[in-house]
Amino acid sequence: MVNFKVSRVESAPIDGQKPGTSGLRKKVKVFTQPHYLHNFVQSTFNALSADKVRGATLVVSGDGRYYSKDAIQIIIKMAAANGVRRVWVGQNGLLSTPAVSAVIRERVGADGSKASGGFILTASHNPGGPNEDFGIKYNMENGGPAPEGITDKIYENTKTIKEYLIAEDLPDVDISVVGVTKFEGPEGQFDVDVFDSASDYVKLMKSIFDFQSIQKLVASPQFSFCYDALHGVAGAYAKRIFVEELGAQESSLLNCVPKEDFGGGHPDPNLTYAKELVARMGLGKSQAEHEPPEFGAAADGDADRNMVLGKRFFVTPSDSVAIIAANAVQSIPYFSSGLKGVARSMPTSAALDVVAKNLNLKFFEVPTGWKFFGNLMDAGMCSVCGEESFGTGSDHIREKDGIWAVLAWLSILAYKNKENLGGGKLVTVEDIVRQHWATYGRHYYTRYDYENVDAGAAKDLMANLVKLQSSLSEVNNIVKGIRSDVSNVANADEFEYKDPVDGSVSKHQGVRYLFEDGSRLVFRLSGTGSEGATIRLYIEQYEKDSSKIGRDSQDALAPLVEVALKLSKMQEFTGRSAPTVIT
Ligand code: G6P
Ligand code: ZN
Repeated sequence: MVNFKVSRVESAPIDGQKPGTSGLRKKVKVFTQPHYLHNFVQSTFNALSADKVRGATLVVSGDGRYYSKDAIQIIIKMAAANGVRRVWVGQNGLLSTPAVSAVIRERVGADGSKASGGFILTASHNPGGPNEDFGIKYNMENGGPAPEGITDKIYENTKTIKEYLIAEDLPDVDISVVGVTKFEGPEGQFDVDVFDSASDYVKLMKSIFDFQSIQKLVASPQFSFCYDALHGVAGAYAKRIFVEELGAQESSLLNCVPKEDFGGGHPDPNLTYAKELVARMGLGKSQAEHEPPEFGAAADGDADRNMVLGKRFFVTPSDSVAIIAANAVQSIPYFSSGLKGVARSMPTSAALDVVAKNLNLKFFEVPTGWKFFGNLMDAGMCSVCGEESFGTGSDHIREKDGIWAVLAWLSILAYKNKENLGGGKLVTVEDIVRQHWATYGRHYYTRYDYENVDAGAAKDLMANLVKLQSSLSEVNNIVKGIRSDVSNVANADEFEYKDPVDGSVSKHQGVRYLFEDGSRLVFRLSGTGSEGATIRLYIEQYEKDSSKIGRDSQDALAPLVEVALKLSKMQEFTGRSAPTVIT
């Protein structure tokens, strides 16, 4: 057994280490400055209660982006020096964000050990590489991101740090090989356990879904499938789950080899960045050369986001969560005894609300950010939840889960096609969505993003909307002056949320204009941008009349878009005549 000593290294605060909603995300060049990562890791250890560090078991892994391997060795040496008993590392340092959550919650070591938390090394859907982004966040014992109480403490610690502890003479551990390496330090034994990145997660998925019925769907000659990991960590799971477990062909996997720079791409699963998949599915400008597959999906860098597509058909994330909720009990064994409740973020369309009402389910509308769902889940109040930003998930873990969402869709397809697999016409993704609209009505939905707007201008625009919202009659005068064919604004407010579990209040979560016919306009500032400000405008119109649910969504929403742009004086405030991105 190799012995190691503990060094105390003198350090000093470095500006700008405030973790955002999803941890600390900066350019690699920032992270590789002397002491930068060390200060943040030590500040995290110091923010946790002693029992979560000394003698504890910690998970350390991530989406495999550039600088991860070096960061893992540094964190191992610092964990050893801080008295951690063992570190669990996914082979090659790879674990998706949902897999880290699953490992923290479910994995039991050979000696019965359980993890008390973990570091996830990812900047999610941001590009990777020497000139791109790196990130680190800490997840707690429930498998969810550290709450604000902890992240605030971490930040405070980064502002006062004087030294960090590190086992400098601990040799680098070969994280490409599965196995346990044992070391001996001043406080006793320290182990690094490198384990298969997929096994625990696959086991959890098999306990949730009926793999046999999905296998039958995948094996059916009428069905075809395609999955794009955008060179993120989802590739490490896609092969195991879709090919080895469910029998899909290897050729159905696109970009499923995880790469440090995501192949130079932007690992964000949407119609703009998942270009290859979009073309293969017959959407967008470049048409597929062959008949597109029946089902397609993509993930982001750390595999917590998902995009679901049918043949020549896009499923909006807001519809996706509503459809999963409506079909979960029949199609997914994990939910067979019913849903405890459902939840969506405020800007997500109200498609889920209609399902909740019809099925008599508890329903919650929370601010943007996954942590709000976690509280509801810990309290047993929510089973399925989702966001318009391509996040869908359930209470099986405390993160959104890209592969789970795909398995949920495959389960619904398998259930709807039980009788059809011998031959005959398959119920397609598009059929399922159109059937859903026919039953519950359709929420036409679009999002306009104005990226990198001058921060002052964005603030002024929001302040103007807040002011306007206080006088409904004035708002209605303006609206009618813009378009007489839209309905009246029945209510407007600045969204505020009181957490029903811990009573905490989150204010200023976006301005809402709610129309009499169920339409909504929502304005909010992004909490994840890195330059200037990003204004997001969410536009939604509810259509119950089944003869009117088949329109093109940009056409259907044109009147509301016009109202939104003029009411907010978008061009006047921002100087922008068009959004940067429309989804
Ligand atoms: C991250 C969070 C999501 C959230 C999204 C919003 O992905 O994990 O829960 O929906 O950011 O980003 P925004 O830029 O709109 O604040
Ligand atoms: Zn992500």
